Amino acid sequence: MDFESYIRDVEDFPKPGVTFKDITPLLNNPKALNRACESLLSMLQGLPIDKVVGVDSRGFIFAPMLASKLGAGFVPVRKKGKLPHKTIGEAYSLEYGEDVLEIHMDAISEGEKVLIHDDVLATGGTAEAVCKLVEQLGGEVVQCNFLIELSFLNGSEKLNGYPIKSLLKY
Ligand code: PRP
Ligand code: MG
Repeated sequence: MDFESYIRDVEDFPKPGVTFKDITPLLNNPKALNRACESLLSMLQGLPIDKVVGVDSRGFIFAPMLASKLGAGFVPVRKKGKLPHKTIGEAYSLEYGEDVLEIHMDAISEGEKVLIHDDVLATGGTAEAVCKLVEQLGGEVVQCNFLIELSFLNGSEKLNGYPIKSLLKY
């Protein structure tokens, strides 16, 4: 399927000079939504997965669907202060300054095989922090998969050593 035709470029969002890759047309189309989910699953090539980690907030769209199809559990990684129980945190860089991502301490057990999913891989800072959180809990990152990889931002270099797959590359 030509997934690219379901991604809308929005100029100057969220701020001037930035072209935003809007995935809502893909989500809106029943066939494209289903095919995107199936394609993300096929990129795993049958690898066993115990937990799917989705990243707050746009990673929450596909990660639970993938988990359900895989017969795996879903784990939310959230921005600081949003998770109610005991957490560990990891700082990551934004364009200006830093933020912190958190995961529940009991969300992943030692040796569990983990798929990390997010909508977009840009600079890789977010996904790198999520990989660290999973590993601190003893999980094994089997793959990081994305709908969209912005290759020109070289995020894959930050994720050196982790298997990365994406549906679309720009
Ligand atoms: C966007 C996107 C990824 C992240 C990628 O999320 O959804 O999570 O940036 O950027 P990076 O590879 O440079 O770290 P954002 O932090 O804008 O928040 P949102 O998902 O809540 O919209
Ligand atoms: Mg995000």
